[in-house]
Amino acid sequence: NIITFANIPALNFFGNKLIGQNIGSELRIPDLLDAIDHNRQDKLIKKIDLEIKFPTYKYLKADIISAELENVIVIMRDYTEVKKSQDLRSDFVANVSHELKTPLTSIKGFLEVIESSAKDDPQMQKKSIKIMQTQANKMQILIDDLLMLNRIEQQEHIKLRDGVSINEVLKEVISNCTELANEKSINIKFINSKKNFLVKGDKEKLTVLFKNILDNAIKYSSPNTEISFEANSKNGKVLIAIHDQGIGIPKKDILRITERFYRSDNGKKLKIEGTGIGLSIVKHIINQHEGELRISSIEGKGSEFTVELNEFNNY
Ligand SMILES: Nc1ncnc2c1ncn2[C@@H]1O[C@H](COP(=O)(O)OP(=O)(O)OP(=O)(O)O)[C@@H](O)[C@H]1O
Ligand SMILES: [Mg+2]
Repeated sequence: NIITFANIPALNFFGNKLIGQNIGSELRIPDLLDAIDHNRQDKLIKKIDLEIKFPTYKYLKADIISAELENVIVIMRDYTEVKKSQDLRSDFVANVSHELKTPLTSIKGFLEVIESSAKDDPQMQKKSIKIMQTQANKMQILIDDLLMLNRIEQQEHIKLRDGVSINEVLKEVISNCTELANEKSINIKFINSKKNFLVKGDKEKLTVLFKNILDNAIKYSSPNTEISFEANSKNGKVLIAIHDQGIGIPKKDILRITERFYRSDNGKKLKIEGTGIGLSIVKHIINQHEGELRISSIEGKGSEFTVELNEFNNY
């Protein structure tokens, strides 16, 4: 099984020393060697999928075709990216189904309670209905979040040109969250440098962005702490830092918390509820704004989320 010819993409993919070598010692892909052997025997086209783990993960589709003079032609196509996006999609479906199933199971359980053991117990009925309402709300929030994420992902490539006042956005977000913060006696401070910063963007999406970050800051903070917003500009960029004195994020999780459905153990341990969608919405909104997100955190001390956006100018 000596390789007599390889085209340039094959040489680039497997390294330059293919020609003249034995395919078994060069490629070391047992399934491929098997398929070549079978093809030599029955001369029928073989189609196989190959997964290579080293040096990096690759997913290939190969056709093995018999040619003249006992030669065999192997055509390989690189499907790594297609495979990755398929895997991502099926993970996503599994996650969504799981997140919806939990409240649904609870609702079905309490419907049964109302029908049977609580049939003549108005108090228990009331209690069951209350739980069912909470669970139905959870499902509603998840679905709304997913629809929002989907819409934002689809619009991610659309360029944004409008000028948006960051002060207006932040004031609106803060006033929307004041009630939630008051419940925990959390004080929200807006360190306003008096300048009205204008950024290039979409007002509605920027509101969603900062609402999600502030929502987390409140959710993952203890009562009687402080959250501060600070805006500054530098070299055509506007930097907005949101600082909390909350539970903090373990170092190993900082890079992952913007992935959809990813939740660190920090909140799960304390039974703080959530589905892990918020920051993935944040990430996509920032991408569309061609901005950046930086997260720094110390466990037990607090976290700082810094959003960098492009300053708006009229020319
Ligand atoms: N300010 C913060 N302090 C500590 N941990 C945080 C903070 N913000 C985010 N996290 C961590 O990042 C994870 C992901 O946040 P994200 O907002 O995406 O999801 P969530 O808050 O769990 O759920 P939801 O979809 O309801 O927002 C959280 O579960 C939490 O572990
Ligand atoms: Mg959140």
